[in-house]
Amino acid sequence: MRAQDGTLIVLLTVLAAPAPTFAQAVPSPSAALAPPIPDVLQGDSRRGATEFSACVNCHGQHAEGGFGPDLSGRDLAWITFKKAVRQPWGIMPAFREQQKSDQALADIRAYLNTLPGSATLGEWHWRRAPEDAPLGQRLYMNFAGCGQCHEPEGKFPRARLGVAARDVTFDYFKRQIYQHLERWPKGTMPLYSPERLPEPVLREMYQWMVEELGLRPWIAGALALGDRRGDKTSYTLTVSNGGQKDKGLAAEGLTVFVRIPTGCSVVAGAGAGYEGTIPLAKLGLEPALRLAPHAHDDSGTVERPQPDLSRDVAVWRLSRIAAGEQITLSLTLSGPEPSSELLKGFEGSTIHWSSPGRRPAGSPPRMVYRDLRIPDTGDHELITPPRIAGTQ
Ligand code: HEC
Ligand code: HEC
Repeated sequence: MRAQDGTLIVLLTVLAAPAPTFAQAVPSPSAALAPPIPDVLQGDSRRGATEFSACVNCHGQHAEGGFGPDLSGRDLAWITFKKAVRQPWGIMPAFREQQKSDQALADIRAYLNTLPGSATLGEWHWRRAPEDAPLGQRLYMNFAGCGQCHEPEGKFPRARLGVAARDVTFDYFKRQIYQHLERWPKGTMPLYSPERLPEPVLREMYQWMVEELGLRPWIAGALALGDRRGDKTSYTLTVSNGGQKDKGLAAEGLTVFVRIPTGCSVVAGAGAGYEGTIPLAKLGLEPALRLAPHAHDDSGTVERPQPDLSRDVAVWRLSRIAAGEQITLSLTLSGPEPSSELLKGFEGSTIHWSSPGRRPAGSPPRMVYRDLRIPDTGDHELITPPRIAGTQ
């Protein structure tokens, strides 16, 4: 106390002492009464509408509020707005200049000011986890809001960590949250501060996400349009494991199926493990789902939407795909000339793997709040349908 008081006195003395060099800079009494020139950056609302996509998971599609407060038509002062994003008041993670420039923030603010205020406030993008959910999941969903971007079971971060599974320890995980931009210099995930999201809380999340549920291999599948000869079109299917060689997780027991668009029939399939064509309803596996948020009722009881099991699928079975490996398969179909409409018929094509899946510790009944796209055993990923060059 003494030392501080002493410092204060010294400071006051310095301030009170005449400072001739600054004398001219001291505003005259009349200038001091004039309104200060506000340090406000003017924004472009059109650009702001696009920039705001980084915020919608928490603040709502139309800034009507969600996990975070409503922002539409609030006309927050520029300094308040900027401070809220750079040094947030509470749990909101911060966006750095390299992620969202001051200009981008001004654009967002301009956009928000074009919106009418919200008459009713929005709901959370993904619902909160119920009281009987694991503690780590509740902190992840309800406290830190990670689940607003990463969904109830952390499907994406668990796969991202699976890319370098051998390196993943709590310290590694912690760096991804507190020093996220080290590994992702252009990353869009904002930064949580250890003051607002303390390490013991993060440890609970790690325990649940990494040790209980376990990591996922980074599996992807993509179909590409090949040649057309007569009424036959060839397609290439690339199945890849994006993990780092010798570090990432391998997937085992894979079943790959491609849905055959209506009006087409299989002429030939090729590549390792090709098994032929069967009706999807007989395969015993479901297509991966794109699940919209809120597919849960309030009791927390969940129902998986009825999958579309119509049509035939071409099937491959592969015993393993190691991290860094890529497997090329191919398919020739006869039928009409591929159009964007026809290619939509490939939607729902899926890669399943039996191992690794979610670990038993994370299984129902403990996992009362599930991401319904993930099956109860094993895991799966959608295959990207082919595109005609130059189209969306
Ligand atoms: C993880 C969820 C999350 C994301 C993402 C997020 N926010 Fe927030 N935001 C919040 C929460 C929660 C608050 C309430 C204050 C707090 O807890 O920090 C908040 C508060 C604010 C406030 C202050 C509102 C007030 O009433 O004073 C502003 C402004 C804001 N956010 C802007 C943004 C912008 C702009 C973005 C995108 C660049 C963004 N936020 C992204 C969760 C989020
Ligand atoms: C505003 C959306 C958003 C929120 C909120 C968010 N993340 Fe992320 N996260 C991302 C994105 C996007 C990436 C991919 C990297 C990037 O672009 O920054 C990512 C990447 C990750 C990764 C992978 C890092 C790696 O390379 O291994 C982990 C782990 C992760 N997030 C965990 C979390 C946790 C835990 C929380 C809550 C404390 C959280 N995230 C909150 C958007 C978000």
